[in-house]
Amino acid sequence: MSSKSILVTGGAGYIGSHVVRQLGEQGENVVVLDNLYSGQKEAVLYGKLIIGDTSDKELVDQIIKQYNIDTVMHFAAHTVVPESVENPLKYYANNTSATRNLLECCQNNGIKHFIFSSTAAVYGMLEEGVATEDTPTRPINPYGTSKLMTEWMLKDLSLATDLTHITLRYFNVSGCDPQTRIGQNTPNATLLIKVACEAALGKRDSLSIFGTDYDTPDGTGVRDYIHVEDLADAHITALKYLRNGGESKTFNCGYGHGYSVKEVLDTVQKVHGAPLNIEEKPRRAGDPPILIADCSAIQKELGWKPKLDDLEKIVESSLKWEHKLANKNQ
Ligand code: UD1
Repeated sequence: MSSKSILVTGGAGYIGSHVVRQLGEQGENVVVLDNLYSGQKEAVLYGKLIIGDTSDKELVDQIIKQYNIDTVMHFAAHTVVPESVENPLKYYANNTSATRNLLECCQNNGIKHFIFSSTAAVYGMLEEGVATEDTPTRPINPYGTSKLMTEWMLKDLSLATDLTHITLRYFNVSGCDPQTRIGQNTPNATLLIKVACEAALGKRDSLSIFGTDYDTPDGTGVRDYIHVEDLADAHITALKYLRNGGESKTFNCGYGHGYSVKEVLDTVQKVHGAPLNIEEKPRRAGDPPILIADCSAIQKELGWKPKLDDLEKIVESSLKWEHKLANKNQ
């Protein structure tokens, strides 16, 4: 264990809070910086929560000094793709400009390691459906572009200074922690598994399949669904790698195989034990037919081993979380 502390921006959000929990369980000193725009205080199970913004240079500077920070894990971001299309500058402000401020503070204070939460959205429309880290990045929405710009800033900063970093490109994240304490809380969610679980519990009357005419085995879109626990563990693995002197790298985080929308919905119905009210609708704008991670690099180079690569387990976990939310809101 290090006597230094780790700053986790966005640590009250969905993925950040799972990483904070795993760091805390391993005895790490954690400081969370979150403006609670979409995060929740109660999701921070370990460490100190400071409510504030990553764009606030004075605050970040003071936190780094006061808490003896040597590593930053950066999750704070807006993540709603359609919103990024309607309001691109909101995304460039929060995801790109605010991150530039954060990186400047890191540079001024000699931060050693940086782990960045990026996205499969940097790839855009894939010709082959499977992305390796060398697949050309051609984001098709401002969300993906705003994250890619941070990837570039990080690369350049690591070349110019002693900072080392890992960029993790997430595929489709789902599930909650084993004790159902933290999970996906976003209101008006659009993510398939979340929406299907909400429909299963009667929070929605129905759900839609967006597109049944794709060139895929059953005509519906295929995605690589990863359990949030495995994704959080990828961050812990990346941290160990950087602490052992590993050089800066970018990795995909998925399981390397996909499920169609229909397969996901069949699994939700099976685990829930009742049929869903499903409507078939036209394709949703901007959806690629297939998006799967080639995730051999992170397994080979960092030794990351997924433990929950099982759609039923992911759905079970997501359903449990939805039950908990439903009980809380009654
Ligand atoms: C998500 C991420 C995106 C990331 C991508 C990686 C968010 C908001 N989006 O997008 O940043 O790049 O994973 O793969 O976090 N679908 C339906 N009905 C629904 C909802 C979805 O049929 O009600 C279908 C979609 O058309 C798609 C699949 O389900 O084929 C998954 O969609 P969704 O869960 O929204 O995630 P992505 O769009 O893949």
